Order: sequence, then structure tokens, then C-alpha cells
Amino acid sequence: MNILGIETSCDETSVAIITNGELRANLVASQDFHADYGGVVPELSSRAHLQIITPLLRKALQKAELEVNEIDLVSATAGPGLIGALLVGLTFAKGLAYSLEKTFVAVNHIEGHIFSGFLMDEKPEYPYLCLVVSGGHTLLLVVEDELRIRKLGATVDDAAGEAFDKVAKMIGLGYPGGPKIQLYAEKGDENAIKFPVSRLDNPYNFSFSGLKTAVLRHLQSEYGSDLRIPEKDLPDLAASFQKTVSDSLLQKVELACREYDIKCISMVGGVAANEYIKNKMIEVGKKYIKNVVIPGIEYCGDNAAMIAYRASTLHKNNIKHDLNTNAFPSLRGDEFI
Ligand code: KG4
Ligand code: ZN
Repeated sequence: MNILGIETSCDETSVAIITNGELRANLVASQDFHADYGGVVPELSSRAHLQIITPLLRKALQKAELEVNEIDLVSATAGPGLIGALLVGLTFAKGLAYSLEKTFVAVNHIEGHIFSGFLMDEKPEYPYLCLVVSGGHTLLLVVEDELRIRKLGATVDDAAGEAFDKVAKMIGLGYPGGPKIQLYAEKGDENAIKFPVSRLDNPYNFSFSGLKTAVLRHLQSEYGSDLRIPEKDLPDLAASFQKTVSDSLLQKVELACREYDIKCISMVGGVAANEYIKNKMIEVGKKYIKNVVIPGIEYCGDNAAMIAYRASTLHKNNIKHDLNTNAFPSLRGDEFI
């Protein structure tokens, strides 16, 4: 069976093909021009998706050595994401499914991330604890099986990736901030500046807005209101900030390891590409004797391989979607939450 996956929820256009469980193509076209604007401009994103999606599909078919009519199932991200951007991939996928008379499966973007560990050779084992850390979401979940996801907590304000991006912008590093902060942090002292870790009523919830304000206050008090931080001070600031984000995330992971009977831990989404947080997560895994599954960097950020994979599991469970439906599938197991 040949499954086509399409992802256009934000600033990456991606097309993937999975054949009988084997990933044959996963092409990602990143829209780097958003960096000039300091963040993703929704209208420009939609336009760029529109321009690249057809040639990208052609390339993916070539890579997988398939003709378009050999596709058996068409899937696409249906939300959450930028509405205009989503509509490009979703409408393209629906049009393709209609003209080829093939099955269509709409995929929730976060579910794509949640199951992205299965793209690795060493796969998660159910039930697993899943930390979703992306630019738009921060969630701690117990994934019981392919259809039951239980939410333990979520961010009450900014997402972890958003915090990286906003702090990077504050210190003039540009967008996306995560990789740049990681780079500076490698040369800095993580204990140089003490930033606070938020405490909330639900011990599994996250909050990063206080940390963002603490960074701003630190910059104002050290460098004045124009926040012009000298290059030589960037590594310590980046390392101290990164450590605080990591501590905030991993405290909840440790708590869940103590309170829930889980077989393994998975960390997914763009921030899961962060080497420092990855290493800290591996240490937590060792401490609680749990396997840690973190997707390779190519599957941490937005990609269509995770969408095609998730579609394959939904299809296996007899889930498919009508081309007329405009409803975005909510995170499965919402009734469970
Ligand atoms: O999952 P993703 O590609 O898109 C969303 O679904 O949001 O995540 C993008 C986020 C951005 O905020 C980016 O700064 C962050 O992931 N990110 C990182 C790193 N690489 C990407 N954050 C920290 N360290 C990194 N190495
Ligand atoms: Zn994402």
C-alpha cells in the first residue's frame, strides 16, 4: 500500500510516501524568507506552499519510483496550524484523492508529532509518556495505544519553542531562535544567571511567560532599555535560559515517571532537536530505567513522514474521512482528557 502524506501547517511544505511501512520519500521545503520578518507571515506562507507543492509531489513520486495513480491513500495535516497554510495542503490532498478516487485521511498535526517516534528503528512501546515540545504546543501525555491519548498537562501560556523564539528575538538572534540559542549555549555557563521555574496548581502544566519576563528584566537591568547585549555575554544568557526551559520540562517528566506506569518516554516536536534537552532526557530515562525514543532531527520539525505514518495507523483502525467534511480532527482521546 502506498500512502501519501502532505504537511503545510506552518512554514514547511512537506510531501512523504510510505510504502508498506517503509518510508520511501520525505521531502521538506523550508520557507527561510520568514527570517527577514522576524517570524512566520501567514499570507506569504500560504503563497509559498501553493508554489512548491506540485513540484514537491513530483519529486517525491520520482524518489519513491511511483506514478501518481499508484498512490492508494492520500493524507494531509488538517489542523492545528495557520489556517491559510493548512488549506493549501488540505485542499490539494482532497483534490488529489477525488481525482484519483482514493481514500482520504485527515491528520491532526500534534498526533503526527506524537507518533513520530515510530519512524525510528527503535520504536516506542505502549503505554508511553510523550512530551510534545514544538513552536505552537507543549503537552505532556500518556499514549495508551494508537487511539487513546491522555493529557496530563499543557502550557498555560507560551509553548517551549515559542519561548526560545521570543527570547532569541529579544537578544537579536532572529527567527527561528531555538537552534541559535542552542549554538550560543554550547559555549556558555548554564549556572551563570538564575532564572525561575514556574510552579502551577496542576503540577503537569507548564508556563514560560514568567521566564520570558525574567530574561527581559535581566537584560533591562544589565544593559538598559535598548537591550543591547554584547556578543561576549550571549553564551551565558543562552545557556542559563536553555537550562531553565529544560528543568521546567523535565521536572514534570520525572514526576510522571514516578506516578504513571509507563514503558518508555518519547520527546517529539521541533524543540526535541535540542541536543542539551535531549541529553537531559536520556539521563532521566536512565534514572527511571525507561527507554527514551526521540525522533531524528529530520522528524522533530514539521515533516510529512509523520503525517503519512499517522494516517497509516488511522487507516489500520478503519478511520478515513469524507472529502466534504471541513471539520478538523481534534486530538484523539479528547474525551479521555
Ligand atoms: O515542531 P515544529 O517544527 O513546528 C511546530 O509545529 O510548531 O517546531 C518549531 C519550533 C521553533 O519554535 C524552533 O525554534 C524550535 O522548534 N526549535 C528548537 C530547536 N530547533 C527547533 N528549539 C530549541 N533547540 C533547537 N535545537
Ligand atoms: Zn509541528
